[in-house]
Amino acid sequence: MDLTTPPPDLYGRPGPDPFMRRVTAFGDWYPKVMGRPLLRRRPGLPAPRPTPPLQLAVSGHRLIATDVVELRLAAPSGGPLPAWQPGARLLLTLPSGRERHYSLCGDPADPAGADTYRIAVRRIADGGGGSREIHDDLHVGARLTARRPRNGFAFCGEPAVLLLAGGIGITPLLPMAREAQRRGLDWHLIHAGRSADSMPFGDELRALDPKRVTFLTGVPSAADLLARAPKGAAVYCCGPAPMLAVVQSAFDASPARALHFERFGAAPILGGRPFAVQLGADGPRLEVPAERSALDVLREARPELPYSCHQGFCGTCRVQLRSGTPEHRDRRLTEEERAAGALLPCVSRAPEGETLVLDL
Ligand code: FES
Repeated sequence: MDLTTPPPDLYGRPGPDPFMRRVTAFGDWYPKVMGRPLLRRRPGLPAPRPTPPLQLAVSGHRLIATDVVELRLAAPSGGPLPAWQPGARLLLTLPSGRERHYSLCGDPADPAGADTYRIAVRRIADGGGGSREIHDDLHVGARLTARRPRNGFAFCGEPAVLLLAGGIGITPLLPMAREAQRRGLDWHLIHAGRSADSMPFGDELRALDPKRVTFLTGVPSAADLLARAPKGAAVYCCGPAPMLAVVQSAFDASPARALHFERFGAAPILGGRPFAVQLGADGPRLEVPAERSALDVLREARPELPYSCHQGFCGTCRVQLRSGTPEHRDRRLTEEERAAGALLPCVSRAPEGETLVLDL
């Protein structure tokens, strides 16, 4: 066997790839079974103890761009934190009890940084208060907890890589750029933002290789984003929904071959129809228009309702259904939980004209 010549399909095959189809199918299937035990516990055996949350303290807090703070988090007594890979996110529980996901943007390969997590947070003035709390109320020494880093946007290290960041979507892509540079990959990163002063990490990116980084201000077109894709490249994209929509719609006509993306903010509502939610058996009935989520409408009446991902995977916004027929669109609840009336109103809806009565 010739071990010196790489097989022609080592880095992928042109056209539809059965392996990638299986990966995608696994990605669709895995979250649905996350909440179910894969192996049944033998009767009499104690339930496995849940992993305790990480106890963290703020070790750094500074403004690094307009409306963007960098937060450094460490164990209160020092020492290494659980390892992570580019693309990983941290679910933080803030002192107020709000839960928020943030991508880690440090360097996981740097041993000197093994005792610190770094995140960057943009202030969302009209958001749910999580970013305002981080900007205004968290100071060095403040305590908070987190779940261990999880990665739903893993970097696969393909030989040619195009990294597309919209605004604060640069956070998971910065460690990927570092990793691509370290591995000697053919990489390019495009960071689009509303203005130069609102885009963090410019110096760090230029220090990697200024020729491999492009900064764009304003709203980028598909050509702006994908024209640099090398033939057969893998594209990693993180940004707001309109940017992802542009990339997805133009992707098939580009020379790139694989698309990995992570969205922040709410997923676009596809095929939404108007319906209503009612707060309790005798409470007010609120109309949910076709282009809005039930969570958005509910939070106008109940601003304290918790949420985190806005995308139907974290379970934070869970409410209890009293009556009505929902259309579950989440990737979190099990069939049993749905049958028991659980509902995630950030993504789930109802048929046109239906009223969902909620225990609120
Ligand atoms: S906010 Fe995460 S599932 Fe609704």
